[in-house]
Amino acid sequence: MKIKSTQQSINNNQADQIIIGHFKGQKTNPWIDELGAEVKDQFSDRLKNKDFIGQTGQVQNLYTSKGQVITLLGLGKADKLTATALYENTHKVIQAAAKSRSQSAAIYLALNELTQIDSDQTTKLVTMAAAHAEYRYEDTKSFKKDNKHQLKELEIAVSDSQKAAFEQAKAMASGISAARHLGNYPPNVCTPKYIAKYATEFAEKNKKCEINVLNHKQMKKMGMGALLAVGQGSANKPKLIVLKYNGGKKDQAPIALVGKGITFDTGGISLKPGANMDEMKYDMCGAATVIGGFIAAVELGLPINLLTFVAAVENMPDGKAYRPGDVITSYSGKTIEVLNTDAEGRMILCDTLTYSQEFNPSVVLDFATLTGACVVALGHQASAVMTKTEGLYEDLKTAGLQSHDRVWELPLWDEYQKQIDTTFADMQNIGGFPAGTITAGCFLSRFTDGQKWAHVDIAGTAWNSKKEGATGRPVAMLTQYLINESEK
Ligand code: BES
Ligand code: MN
Ligand code: ZN
Repeated sequence: MKIKSTQQSINNNQADQIIIGHFKGQKTNPWIDELGAEVKDQFSDRLKNKDFIGQTGQVQNLYTSKGQVITLLGLGKADKLTATALYENTHKVIQAAAKSRSQSAAIYLALNELTQIDSDQTTKLVTMAAAHAEYRYEDTKSFKKDNKHQLKELEIAVSDSQKAAFEQAKAMASGISAARHLGNYPPNVCTPKYIAKYATEFAEKNKKCEINVLNHKQMKKMGMGALLAVGQGSANKPKLIVLKYNGGKKDQAPIALVGKGITFDTGGISLKPGANMDEMKYDMCGAATVIGGFIAAVELGLPINLLTFVAAVENMPDGKAYRPGDVITSYSGKTIEVLNTDAEGRMILCDTLTYSQEFNPSVVLDFATLTGACVVALGHQASAVMTKTEGLYEDLKTAGLQSHDRVWELPLWDEYQKQIDTTFADMQNIGGFPAGTITAGCFLSRFTDGQKWAHVDIAGTAWNSKKEGATGRPVAMLTQYLINESEK
């Protein structure tokens, strides 16, 4: 499906189906007025009979003699409309349109001053909902659905002032779709090598991009002991992927992104229970997030320099695997006592964070499906942010609100640090039961001294039910953050 913006007046729009928003309690609708008497009469009838009252999520079709379908979408009371409701309602109606006979559709929603949602955000929500609604996972199915009964084109009505927001949302959608693809792909296919190939193919298409992939031999020479320890039990060797985008001035410090790319997390020798272990194919969603954000930034041609580090590693139990009790020397030189091989994300991230500092970034953000405790703390609604850098949480929070991909802060107070102290090394890799998300953040903080840095735990947001799979979160928030930085 092609998603385009349109500025055509509604009565000239030839799409098979036109979707119009309507608020509960409103007697008239400006779009209906424009469409003329034929539609207006049907509309008035429906309102009078109370067949359609504009209840949130309510859908009512009207028909024209030209054969067009006019779909009324209820949005509830205007002053009660939330970003979530707007997103979910448009998602649902576009998904239905995608399954209907319509080959083309247009959506006219421009909301009035009555709502709390500004027009830029509306444009972004609708565009991303549309992209989300059309996503189909078919990569590993032998039987692909035919495309005959499929929406081929969707137009979103935007005013001049919303055009930039529309383009931003389209780029976010590209990043989200890449992240979903990578996340959903099975772990026997989506290996470290596959992610490296995916990133390489993207970088080679773009003049302003460069790529460097470090293999395990190079990392061994460099002394990346912690990252390599996690990978040593797997036949799929680790890769450290460095993607570079030169969109800013030569002397401008880059923004660094770091992603956890565990392509499958068995837990290693500290083996995970069998139930739902398949979901640990999503343990590379941090990597998918930073690649998605990178793709969006390149598509928008943002005037920034961007460095994306992907630690792609598989965590397997094996005769060569690392074990509880091992003491590992990290790339930074700090030593780590492994008390649980399932706390592997922080092991690969610490070396990657240390490496990223060699590029003198202005700020470092890492994204990781790091702890089950994060799902307990924040559920599937918000990603967790931990930082000690003044103002950085606020910037991420703002970006999350603008893109409706929200984050929430957890503290990184020094008092938590003692939970990872140990007798046998500089630190241990687990902090015990209380505050598991925070002690994982504390561990990473020991490798980011003097850096402007934030850690984002996306264990609750990167994927959900079996059916939907990878969500592509928080690519929208990350992209919005990069847009905001580029405008500073
Ligand atoms: N990838 C997992 C975290 C995870 C688990 C995310 C379930 C989403 C759902 C991570 O590598 C892990 O296993 N963490 C352990 C840490 C523990 C051993 C300190 C956890 O959360 O149980
Ligand atoms: Mn684990
Ligand atoms: Zn993991």
